[in-house]
Amino acid sequence: MSAPIRIGIFGLGGFAGSHHQAIARLEERNHAKLVCTCDPRQEAFAAEQQAWRFQARGVRVFNDYRAMLETCHRDLDMVVIPTPIQLHAAMHAAATAYGLPAYVEKPPTLDYAELDRMIAADDRARKSSHVGFNFIIEKARLSLKERLLAGEFGAIRGATLSALWPRPASYFARNDWAGRLLIDDHMVLDSCFGNAMAHFVHNLLFWTGGPELFSWAQIAAVRAELYRAHAIEGADTFFVETDTAAGITMRFALSHACSGASTHCEAVLCDKATLRYAVGGNIEIRWHDGRVERTPIDPFDPLLENHLDYFRYLRGEKARPATTLSDARPFVALNDLAYISSGRIAAIPSAQVSGVRDEKEQKDYLQVVDMAAAHEAFLVRGLWPGPNGWGRETGEVVTLGDLPRLQGVVRAMAGK
Ligand SMILES: NC(=O)c1ccc[n+]([C@@H]2O[C@H](COP(=O)([O-])OP(=O)(O)OC[C@H]3O[C@@H](n4cnc5c(N)ncnc54)[C@H](O)[C@@H]3O)[C@@H](O)[C@H]2O)c1
Repeated sequence: MSAPIRIGIFGLGGFAGSHHQAIARLEERNHAKLVCTCDPRQEAFAAEQQAWRFQARGVRVFNDYRAMLETCHRDLDMVVIPTPIQLHAAMHAAATAYGLPAYVEKPPTLDYAELDRMIAADDRARKSSHVGFNFIIEKARLSLKERLLAGEFGAIRGATLSALWPRPASYFARNDWAGRLLIDDHMVLDSCFGNAMAHFVHNLLFWTGGPELFSWAQIAAVRAELYRAHAIEGADTFFVETDTAAGITMRFALSHACSGASTHCEAVLCDKATLRYAVGGNIEIRWHDGRVERTPIDPFDPLLENHLDYFRYLRGEKARPATTLSDARPFVALNDLAYISSGRIAAIPSAQVSGVRDEKEQKDYLQVVDMAAAHEAFLVRGLWPGPNGWGRETGEVVTLGDLPRLQGVVRAMAGK
């Protein structure tokens, strides 16, 4: 067996804690060795450091990531960056300056210009960095995409994403960047589209990309309506339509302003069949001649499997990481163009919004009376909620040439 991959993890809490747990399990199987970690709030995670047996494992803990890299870079093969979005670029730049590749949590950044700088910085690393979009490596996804590319379902005509993930009011107060557009003039753009459900947006672009297996659709034009129901700076509800360079129309409807069970469904509409893929559930292939195929998707541990996949690439056993920084370009451009097209974030009409107390969870949710109907009307019939009851205009059509307007649009949205 090859030597364990030597790792430094930025951060101890939040999702960094999940990476620590995954790496500890991989260390038990001799795939990985955690060399060092850092967090400016390391004292707040004393119990975790004990539970993860840092002392016995010889893990060095730093307050500052720059000090950690300076001291340990010679002992590392890679770093993991599961920290607040607005820190990713600076941390990636610091690691790649030492030639170290990174497993950067999604989204790498939500600013297209910053992504370009990260792509340039990545050239300094010994190997390409990986962006932690969880679901690209799913075996069922890859084999279905191969069938799509082989033409089994005919040409792709459209694709839709419906995703409703309830988030309580407390979700937006869990740190200083949740739901924020800007922090100290640095673009954050945290939202359901750019952060929590970014996986599904990136997945949908993956279905419509070609001709290689690992390819994502190129964005041609975008229209959007952005909304908020929660008292946040950013948006919690997105309706977005894009035409790809290959002429496929894609529609995305996502919201955190809902209650009850989370739902998500990626759908690809082809000449001969409609494919529905629900992460954690089933694949349904509904042939237009009446046949229906349903296959359960195997349960899967995203962090463990994404690390193992990236290790295989670092060891030279596979040609590329599942998602490189360049592969994230369509996702970041789509996110940014949605803001530029929408121009403003409108309040969902208050008559539509009501509060729901989940007694079991002891948490407060908001729900929008006709959210499900608005999703259905938009995704199936192309009816925008704005001119159909939600009292706003649909955004203008924008293209990649409009990206330089992002800073100005976002500053205006943030009242700056
Ligand atoms: N792939 C997934 O399924 C998934 C799930 C949740 C979150 N995420 C991603 O993980 C990232 C982190 O999200 P989060 O909600 O855990 O954030 P968070 O605000 O909880 O921060 C995570 C950790 O980073 C630490 N940190 C902050 N500043 C630091 C610094 N200067 N140096 C070192 N550590 C620092 C924090 O103290 C915390 O321990 C985001 O990109 C998010 O989108 C991914």
